Amino acid sequence: MNKHSQQLMTLYEISKLLGASLDLNKTLKGAMRVLSDFLDMQRGTVALVEGGEVIIKAAHGLTIEELQLGRYKLGEGIIGQVAKSGYPIVVPNVGDEPVFLNRTGSRKNIKKNNIAFLCVPIVFKSNVLGVLSVDRLFADEGASFDADLRLLKIIASLLAQHIKLSRQVENEVQELIAERDTLKIELKGRYRIENVIGKSPIMQEVFEAVHKVAGSKATVLITGESGTGKELIAKAVHYMSPRAKQPFIKLNCASIPEGLLETELFGHEKGAFTGAASVRRGRFELAHKGTIFLDEIGDLSLGLQPKILRVIQEREFERVGSEKTIKVDVRVIAATAKDLVQMVGEGNFREDLYYRLNVVPMFLPPLRQRTEDIGELIDFFLDKFNKENSEDVEISPEAVRAMAEYSWPGNIRELENTIERIVIMSPGKTVQPQNLPLNIRTLTGKVYEHRIMPLDQAEKDGIIEALKTTEWVHAKAAKLLGITPRQIGYKVKKYGIGKGIS
Ligand SMILES: Nc1ncnc2c1ncn2[C@@H]1O[C@H](COP(=O)(O)OP(=O)(O)OP(=O)(O)O)[C@@H](O)[C@H]1O
Ligand SMILES: [Mg+2]
Repeated sequence: MNKHSQQLMTLYEISKLLGASLDLNKTLKGAMRVLSDFLDMQRGTVALVEGGEVIIKAAHGLTIEELQLGRYKLGEGIIGQVAKSGYPIVVPNVGDEPVFLNRTGSRKNIKKNNIAFLCVPIVFKSNVLGVLSVDRLFADEGASFDADLRLLKIIASLLAQHIKLSRQVENEVQELIAERDTLKIELKGRYRIENVIGKSPIMQEVFEAVHKVAGSKATVLITGESGTGKELIAKAVHYMSPRAKQPFIKLNCASIPEGLLETELFGHEKGAFTGAASVRRGRFELAHKGTIFLDEIGDLSLGLQPKILRVIQEREFERVGSEKTIKVDVRVIAATAKDLVQMVGEGNFREDLYYRLNVVPMFLPPLRQRTEDIGELIDFFLDKFNKENSEDVEISPEAVRAMAEYSWPGNIRELENTIERIVIMSPGKTVQPQNLPLNIRTLTGKVYEHRIMPLDQAEKDGIIEALKTTEWVHAKAAKLLGITPRQIGYKVKKYGIGKGIS
């Protein structure tokens, strides 16, 4: 290869390298390697101007220690002079040059007078960014370095653009990192619980309490209207606690007949009563090392309240039909939609039990008091039921607005059921306000209906909606509608409403 094509190859290789990466250290080192591979150069360095100094950043042929010594003040030595003046310097014979500092000490084994030192500034828009220098071995006295110098100048200008670009990118990355960190700080103090929606300040307080209390064994009492997420929060406390891998045992104090509640809670021995053919472990025993969730605690009969009180106090009990005391390690979480304070006042709930339960109270606000969360809840459930039903139903902003105005007496459960129904009933559609269930349309105070519906039909629809919302529990549906259970029973009969209806 002749000298000219060798130089072209060098340029080609270096520009390829600079185009491949913005990692300045990597590309500068690579450029040095290319220089030494293609040209007859002993060593090469790139030094960059940083804070009034010129610091060697990459080199070929220098050890790490030598590299670390490569630091010059502006104007100091040849590298310092080139950095200061912005003009190249060629030292035809290092041995003859007194300014030559040999700071890095790397030339001690070479006879100084065989080496020429070529040094060019790296300039971008008349700013000196650094210095590129190479040691060139030469054989003949009086050899010309013009061609080398031209090549180095071209390489230096390529490097200049690259340095500028990578610094710019580096600045942008730093800015992004700073931005991310500020965002993180802003998000700090924002509590999150997986699969629980609640950006509203009032829910954030609940989330904060959950985070704080999860690590402890403290008894938690969750109150709030029907469908506000009491069970969901009870589970969050359990699954965020160190007991997460142990059982979460639920006992619904309202749904078990009083006569059976005791065996449900504490279990029974074989032969404890007729029909007790074998030993049965109760919920407290099953919950050992885990959490017991006493749901609808306000429905616990006065007769059973002292027994629960004892387990909560002593963490011990006996199976029905046994004298043997069983000790358990359980965390207790209780929930109710009832007003326990009022019940205590009326003598229907033991005060001592109330205080035992109310160690960490958590109140879940009704949905109408956290309308900020409605949009996100709608998205959350829409996504869930679209996935479940392989649907792609959308809800128009007007319909979302109508739903935000509705009072949601059945709270999140009612919203969840509503969205499920919407997804099933409106395949492939964008839901408009007039497609919403009647109770939402009428109870928002606005009538989105175009056609006139007979009053009876509206009433029947409203009752069906309420029954579906409350999973066909008449008493709950009646409460939702603000009528008595007797009245709802009468209307169910009148309209021939059955569970199969949709
Ligand atoms: N913040 C929330 N984010 C997402 N889903 C929620 C939220 N709160 C409640 N839900 C969902 O709403 C439904 C009702 O919640 P949950 O059963 O916990 O309410 P509850 O207060 O125990 O009601 P009830 O008093 O009727 O027993 C559940 O399907 C639950 O997953
Ligand atoms: Mg519940």
